[in-house]
Amino acid sequence: MNNIPVGITGLGSCLPDNVLSNEDLSKIVDTNNEWIVTRTGIRERRIANKNTATSDLASISAIKALEDANVKAEDLDLIIVATSTPDYFFPSTAGIVQKNIGAKRAAAFDINVACSGFNYGLVVGANFIQTGMYKKVLVVGAEVMSSIVDWEDRNTCVLFGDGAGACVLEPCDESFGILSSELGSDGVNGDVLVVPAGGSRMPATSETVDNKLHTIRMDGKEVFKFAVRVMEKSSLEVLKRAGLEKEDIDFLIPHQANTRIIDAAVKKLKLSREKIHVNLDRYGNTSAASIPLALDEAYRENKIKKGDNVLLIAFGAGLSWASLVIKWNKEAKNV
Ligand code: ACO
Repeated sequence: MNNIPVGITGLGSCLPDNVLSNEDLSKIVDTNNEWIVTRTGIRERRIANKNTATSDLASISAIKALEDANVKAEDLDLIIVATSTPDYFFPSTAGIVQKNIGAKRAAAFDINVACSGFNYGLVVGANFIQTGMYKKVLVVGAEVMSSIVDWEDRNTCVLFGDGAGACVLEPCDESFGILSSELGSDGVNGDVLVVPAGGSRMPATSETVDNKLHTIRMDGKEVFKFAVRVMEKSSLEVLKRAGLEKEDIDFLIPHQANTRIIDAAVKKLKLSREKIHVNLDRYGNTSAASIPLALDEAYRENKIKKGDNVLLIAFGAGLSWASLVIKWNKEAKNV
C-alpha cells in the first residue's frame, strides 16, 4: 500500500511585541553590537513579557495556521507541540493549546528535540496521516527561550529569542507534499549544549538556583562545527532520498542560529541568496520556533511557489538534526 501524500495546508506564527536590541544587551553584559552582528548576524530579538508562557504564543500561531488552512479546531485529530521551554513538566503544552483553541477531539503531546523539534514534529505528524490513522494534524514549534537564558552570560544571552510558528498537515495531491526526511541524533556528544538542573538528574534546590544551573550551558565552538557539518550532510542525504540534486532546491529554510553557519551551508549547496530566507537578524535563535517562523514569513512574502522543492534543515541540542524536502502544495500567499 502506498503512503498517503501529506502537505502543509496552513501556516501561522506569533512573536512577542517587546524588542531587545544589541544596544539594550550591551547595557546588561559586556558586549557590543559590532561583536554580535559580525559573529552571529543577530541585531535584535523578541522577548515575551513575564505573564506570557510558551502555550500563549503557541495558541496564537495555531489559530492563525488553522485560519490559513480553513480548518476548524474541533476537526483536528492531533496536536504536537515541539518545545524545550514547556509551560510545565506536565500537563503537556500541547494539552494547554488544545484547551485554548477548543480542539476537543484531538490527541495532544509535546516533543523535545530542542531546535530540531519542529522538523521532528512534522515527520512524526506526517506519519500519522501517511498511514491513514489521522487526517488533520497541527504541529507547533514554540519557545520562551528567555526563561532559560542566563542574562549574565554574554556567550549565550545574545543568541536567543522567543516566538512560535505552527502548521496544519493534511493529505494532499499525489507527488506534492513531503517527499523525504531525515531525523538524526548524536547523543554521545549531547553534553556540549545542556540545561543542567531542573530535571531528575539535578532537581531544583536553592543551590541550583543560586548557581544558575537552570539556564543554557553551551560550548559554542563545538556546536558551530557540528552545525556546519550536519547542515551539508543532512541536506545531501534528504535530497538523495527524494531523488533530487542540489540544483533542484528551489528554496531553503535553514535553522536560524547564526548567519555564518547558514553562509557555510549555502556555499556548500551552491545556492543563491534569493533561495533562502533569513530572519535571525530580527528574531535571533528561537529554537523550535525558528523553522516555522521563517517558513511562515517566506510564504507570506510570496517567496515560495506551488511546485517548489523546499528544503527545511534544523540542528540543535541532543545533539540532533532533522531535515525534510517538501514539494510545496499550497498556492503562494497574496499579501
Ligand atoms: N560579546 C563580546 N564578546 C563575546 C561575546 C559577546 N556576546 N560572547 C563571547 N565573547 C568573547 C569570548 O569570551 C571570546 O573571548 P576570548 O577570546 O577573550 O576568550 C571571544 O569573544 C571569541 O569567542 P568565540 O567563542 O571564539 O566566538 P565564536 O566566533 O566561536 O562565536 C558563537 C561564538 C556565536 C556562540 C558561535 O560559536 C556559535 O554561533 N556557535 C553555535 C551556537 C548555536 O548555534 N547554538 C544554538 C544551538 S540550538 C539549540 O538547540 C538550543
